[in-house]
Parts: sequence; C-alpha cells; structure tokens
Amino acid sequence: MSTFQVNLRDVIYSLSDALDLVGVTHIHHGKRVAFMAVECARVLGWPAERLDRLYQAGMLHDCGVSRTYIHRRLTQFEWEGEGEHCRVGAALLRSCPPLAPLADIVLHHHTHWRELQGLALSEEVRLAANCIYLVDRCDILTLGALKDQSNILYGREETRRAIADRRGDWFCPELVDAFLQASGSEAFWFSLESDQVRSYAGDWIAHDRVREVPFEELRSLVRIFSVIVDAKSPFTREHSEGVARVSRALGQRLGLSERRCEMLELAGLLHDLGKLRVPDELLEKPGRLTPEEYAVMKRHSFDTYTILRTIHGLEEVALWAAQHHERVDGSGYPYHLGEGLSIEARIVAVADVFQALVQNRPYRPGLSSAEVMAIVHEHVAGGRLDGHVVVELDAALPSLWALATGVADMPGV
Ligand SMILES: [Fe+2]
Ligand SMILES: [Fe+2]
Ligand SMILES: [Fe+2]
Repeated sequence: MSTFQVNLRDVIYSLSDALDLVGVTHIHHGKRVAFMAVECARVLGWPAERLDRLYQAGMLHDCGVSRTYIHRRLTQFEWEGEGEHCRVGAALLRSCPPLAPLADIVLHHHTHWRELQGLALSEEVRLAANCIYLVDRCDILTLGALKDQSNILYGREETRRAIADRRGDWFCPELVDAFLQASGSEAFWFSLESDQVRSYAGDWIAHDRVREVPFEELRSLVRIFSVIVDAKSPFTREHSEGVARVSRALGQRLGLSERRCEMLELAGLLHDLGKLRVPDELLEKPGRLTPEEYAVMKRHSFDTYTILRTIHGLEEVALWAAQHHERVDGSGYPYHLGEGLSIEARIVAVADVFQALVQNRPYRPGLSSAEVMAIVHEHVAGGRLDGHVVVELDAALPSLWALATGVADMPGV
C-alpha cells in the first residue's frame, strides 16, 4: 500500500464543490455556512483547532443530500423529515477516519438548542452543531431575501431579527449574541458573495500543508464522493464502487503497478461525480433521453474534471475519471481523444460499460453474462472499447462479475 502526497483541505474543498452541484441554484451554500460559523465562533474566542473543525463541518454539513428533490426542500425554513439528511451525512463522515470528528456536529445541525442541551454530547459538538444550524438558517433567509434583489444588504435586518427571535429556543443564547455582533458589519454580508467565500476557502487551503496520506485513508475520503453520487438514484447504487473494483482488477491483470492500480480504484470511485448535477428525473427516466436531456447528461464527465482538477496529487486520477466516456475511435466525449487515450482511461471506460450493463437500469433489467459480453464485443468490433482490456474481462468474467455487482452468482453463463 502506497502513500499519496495530498493536502486534505484540497479534497474537502472539492467535496464541497461537488455538493454544490446538487442544487445549482444554491451554489457555495456550504462555503458560506462555514465562513459565517467561523466568524461567530471567533467572537466567542474559540481556539484555532476548534475553528478548523467547525469550518470543515460547515463546508460538509449537507453531505447527506444527493438527490435534487431533497435539495429543493433545504430552502424551506423548517420541513418534515429534515433529520434524515443529518443522519445520512453523519454516517458517511463516521466511515472516514479523517472526517469522523465532524460526524456528531453534522448529525445535530438541525436540532433545536432546547433539545440539544439534554443530549450527551461534548460542549464543542453541541455548540458547533448549533452554530451551523444558526448560520445555515441565516443563509436560507438571505437567499430568500435576495431573490429579487442584487444587493446582499437588503433584508439583513429581517434575517437578524428572525434569528434573534429564536434565541434560547432554537439557538444557544451566546451563539445568537455572537452572530448579532459578527453580522453587525456590512463586511460580514459582502463576504458572502461567491468570489469572497471562494477566496476565503482558498486561503484556508493555502494554510495547510501537503502531507503523506496512506492509500486507505485517501480511499475512505474519496469513497465519500462516490457514496454521495451513487445515492442519487436506486439504479446507480454501488455503481462507482463496482467500477472501482473492476478497474483495479483489470489493471492488475494487465500488469500495472500496485500504485497505478490504487489510482485506478480512486478514478473508478470518482468517475461519475459530475452526475450530481444531473436532475434525479433524468437519471431515472424510463425511456430514451431527448436531445436536450442528453446534452445535460453529457456534461457530467467534464464536470467530474472541473471538480477534481484542483486537488494537487490526484491530477492523473482526475483525468482518467473524466475520460471514462472517451472512446478509442474518438467517438466519445468530452475531449474526443481517441488513440491518445491512456491504458488507464481505457480500463475505466470498459469497467464503466461493464458495470452499467450488469446493473438494473430504469429502462431495462440487468442483463445476462452472454448479453453483456455480446454488447461489450460489439463495442470492441466497432473500435470504441479497447480489445486488450476486454480480453482480460473475458478471461476472468465470473470474478469480475462478482466485483462489479458485489454478488457472486453470475446469471446466464
Ligand atoms: Fe445546509
Ligand atoms: Fe458516466
Ligand atoms: Fe459510470
């Protein structure tokens, strides 16, 4: 197992960009919440390490939301079932050692203060969760007030009043006081503009260092992206995991180094990240897509690259992930690379087609192995998929089938 030179803050930033895609009308929500939370906590004099955890929790607090229909509800001030995305997000963070300390904060980011006080939580978690709740609601109110206005200062007094009205009931009194103090300046509100929150986050990244991250730790972090994407639709459950496992196994069979196989696994987990931007209705459409819908769908692999390209240390992984719809004859998208495609990008492309064919889709059930391989061979004959990679798929079909589906039985051999 190798180590990767990565700045973990780069990865967290990309994760927050990925979450932005779920609700494109609501862009940078996580970054604004993170910024406002830290500004409030500074008033209370929190030490740097605690501010850092709060900032990370703010960036990632909505990581339990993959589906567009749930995202649309986030803009309501209060809604039934809001605890679900908190539980999903917390479970996801708990599965990743570097982010596990954020899990309880995210779990309680919609819990009223009067309830929070009775729970067995550390003081830090209680206050951080409630701080995120407070500024999260502030962001929703601000977005609502901004609807027909270009000036962010418009409506701020009303927002401040709505927060102050819930002092002691929804929100901790000291946090409300800190918020009122921090938000008393115009600068606080101007800082919520997109360019500002992005550069604030950029500074935060620059203040960390690149470190040696063991593969397993990086994989647990990268897996968060894939779980969020795969949770978007019941039809894509485990798709990215399956593509990752198959890509790695094909890489091993083709004699690639252990390091490159690990990178292939990461690329498989990340390849469909841009699908977060595709509305649920499209992913689940039972029939053919219209040309307009296909155009929306087609940008997902490019969006994957846009999100990942800023993570230093994962440049090649980002490329292979983004090239999974490229075809050897140049007919794929979005770059039309053709013959110039790396072996790794060819592997991910085969693994993606293979995994998708064995899975149920809204317009057809999963296929038998004979049907799957007939389609894969048609792609090879047509010059779209790499024949050398497919030879390995043929040679180890039952085990690769099991890796693709997570189930040992292969139907219709
Ligand atoms: Fe939120
Ligand atoms: Fe894709
Ligand atoms: Fe895919």
